[in-house]
Amino acid sequence: MLVEEVKLIQYRNYKELELQFHPKLNILVGENAQGKTNVLEALYLCAIGKSFRTNKDQEMINMVKESAYVKVKVKKQTDKVDIEVLLNKEKNKKIKINKLSLTKYGDLLGNLNIVLFSPEDLKIIKEGPSERRKFMNNDISQILPKYYYTLNQYNKILQQRNKILKDFRGKKFDLEIWDEQLVNSGTWLMIYRRNFIKRIALLAKLTHRKITDGLEELEIHYDSNIKVKDNDEFEEIKNKFLKQLKENKDLEMMRRLTLTGPHRDDMIFKINGLEVKNYGSQGQQRTAVLSLKLAELELMKGEVGEYPILLLDDVMSELDGKRQNYLIQNLKNVQTFITTTIIEPLNIKNKQQHKLFTVCNGEVSTISSK
Ligand SMILES: Nc1ncnc2c1ncn2[C@@H]1O[C@H](COP(=O)(O)OP(=O)(O)OP(=O)(O)O)[C@@H](O)[C@H]1O
Ligand SMILES: [Mg+2]
Repeated sequence: MLVEEVKLIQYRNYKELELQFHPKLNILVGENAQGKTNVLEALYLCAIGKSFRTNKDQEMINMVKESAYVKVKVKKQTDKVDIEVLLNKEKNKKIKINKLSLTKYGDLLGNLNIVLFSPEDLKIIKEGPSERRKFMNNDISQILPKYYYTLNQYNKILQQRNKILKDFRGKKFDLEIWDEQLVNSGTWLMIYRRNFIKRIALLAKLTHRKITDGLEELEIHYDSNIKVKDNDEFEEIKNKFLKQLKENKDLEMMRRLTLTGPHRDDMIFKINGLEVKNYGSQGQQRTAVLSLKLAELELMKGEVGEYPILLLDDVMSELDGKRQNYLIQNLKNVQTFITTTIIEPLNIKNKQQHKLFTVCNGEVSTISSK
């Protein structure tokens, strides 16, 4: 799929902007703080319904304005989709698909698939488990909208259960109905996550092998909070989840928090048997993320039937020549958006058809197109 056009009004540092994109490669070049990432963020907003930089939608509205508007025209193999997002300081955002307002944000997912690769993604490897859960949640939601709904349901139940535990003042109370619901949606989450990781792990392993000329084996594992076997099915997982909840009840009452369930899941990344988080060099960590991102592309292609669009925010200059080349070779069929402060090191420009834009203080001009 591809984004043919984007329109921004009062979005971050843009007054009004309309851009036609190249079907293959789009390079946005400019100094720091000019608005390059803002354009990628706007595309991401139309795909996922939120920013990748902030949880506060208001921040995307131009500072001195009350509302902002983004529209993208998406072309798929068989149809075209217009996505519009209207942000308002006072009200909730409004999303329209082909002019029809959505009643549930989840219905946006799947209209424009996207893979984002930014320096922040190193966090997936280096930081705490919540970063890895965020990765799973964002990715699985895109290919499986029912995951998004199950996750929301699970989080609501979790909040309720936590509230009961928090309000507990030594009186007797019953958690059982909450346990049952938590376990039901939680078990589905675990099954979706296990399947997803199994598939992405295989794709990432193959990619990583190629990038490192067979020197490194990348393993990715699902480290679920509920200890289950690989081939356990729904009922078995559910029973183990319930059992673990029961065993933890005293501790939970003491800590006044739900300590058991997929909200505590994690993923493990290993290279040649060693955990990348603790033993990997900077370069290995970066390469592992690159392999993961390329695996995401392939996984989405397999699921959706066409490639998502790819946003590379400030990552090219951080990769060495060999990795840059590998990336370029693998992007031939993927519409890609690259932001960079310096164009010279990107030998990519000479190798592929592209459109080159300069971004300066909220204004974008096209420099070349081939
Ligand atoms: N809500 C807003 N209203 C007006 N301007 C904003 C708003 N949010 C951000 N900006 C401005 O947008 C600019 C940053 O844009 P962006 O993050 O796209 O920069 P960039 O070109 O990607 O820079 P870098 O190379 O440093 O990553 C800053 O000048 C910032 O002040
Ligand atoms: Mg930027």
